[in-house]
Amino acid sequence: MNPFRYGCVVDGEYFCPRPVLEKELSRLVSAGQNIVIQGERRMGKTSLVCQTVRNMRKFKLLYIDLLGIRTIDDFCRKTTSAILSLDKRKSFLTSLIDLLKNIRPTLSFDPMTANPTLSVDVSATTPSDSIETILDAIEKLSEKKKICVVFDEFQDMLYLDNANSILASLRSKIQFQPSIPYIFMGSVRNSMAELFSNSRSPFYKSAALFDIGKIDDEDFIPFLKERFKSGNRSIDNQILKRIIELSGNVSGDVQELCDALWTVTDHNKEIDNEDIFDALNLVFARESKSYMPILSQLTKQQLAVLKCISLIGGENPFSVEFIKASKISNASSIRKAILRLVNLDILYLNDGVYKFSNPFFKEWLKRQ
Ligand SMILES: Nc1ncnc2c1ncn2[C@@H]1O[C@H](COP(=O)(O)OP(=O)(O)OP(=O)(O)O)[C@@H](O)[C@H]1O
Ligand SMILES: [Mg+2]
Repeated sequence: MNPFRYGCVVDGEYFCPRPVLEKELSRLVSAGQNIVIQGERRMGKTSLVCQTVRNMRKFKLLYIDLLGIRTIDDFCRKTTSAILSLDKRKSFLTSLIDLLKNIRPTLSFDPMTANPTLSVDVSATTPSDSIETILDAIEKLSEKKKICVVFDEFQDMLYLDNANSILASLRSKIQFQPSIPYIFMGSVRNSMAELFSNSRSPFYKSAALFDIGKIDDEDFIPFLKERFKSGNRSIDNQILKRIIELSGNVSGDVQELCDALWTVTDHNKEIDNEDIFDALNLVFARESKSYMPILSQLTKQQLAVLKCISLIGGENPFSVEFIKASKISNASSIRKAILRLVNLDILYLNDGVYKFSNPFFKEWLKRQ
């Protein structure tokens, strides 16, 4: 069995403990604090939050993934389904149906899994009343055992018709539930910033900011070492540091490269630099089909800037050194090219440094 997992939420033995963050997050949750989780993609936001709240004996996790919602109906359906999965007992189901009666709940059973599913009909109520009904139900259920509500991919609320008024209803209800911690997570940094840092947004400054960056090397390196050991391979710290660096410090990408490394090596192997080379080639073979369409939409100048960032880094792309290396005569053309590369999501700005969204694409481009 491959000991590495990527592209999914990880828990149990696949989750590398992050003691400092877990402690701080559980402190905020215990205090009933509303929290907005910020962090770049694939850093481990969802895994950290789910693992931390599941470990808190006093709380039940109510996890609602809002990815792809387009209507208030979607929002209500996803939220009520999540509530339904909190408890399997019949008495819970009966009381839930009663609590949601304003939005006409109908119970059915999934023919494949036989699990109960709840559909609701919000057409007879206003969005504000539907939200009130659902949040009242959460409050009521939270009287028995405290609930921590997690809205993941919360930025997708912005796609709803009348998003601002729906967000305002949600916010005004949440502010009267001080004992329930709400966690808002999102993977699109700009939209999340818009929701919580723009003074015109109903959620402006409504939650404590909690940043999730890379997993500390002191936690990640021993964890990865142990994972390789469980797969009958050994690896030293320097090689692991190199893997983390090649993966742009992104947790999910580190696991992807480790997965490739495990695949290209045999049992009882002591992993060396040559294996990293083979693992990267495997990643390129898996991914390179998606690199070509990226390149085909770029002008010569944009490509030159991108290549230059891959080679000398995106710390200071307007410096004399960069201009010289890119062979583009002026900083304003470089600025324009970077703007387009950011708009296409090929690069993103992080702490003043332009980085590749996909660190393996960067490594591949370097070699072209
Ligand atoms: N604590 C961890 N221990 C081990 N691997 C982790 C951890 N956190 C994240 N990962 C790796 O990162 C991947 C993505 O994790 P997760 O989905 O939690 O991140 P995310 O920040 O929520 O991502 P997205 O931006 O896509 O929502 C996981 O599949 C796993 O490979
Ligand atoms: Mg996530």
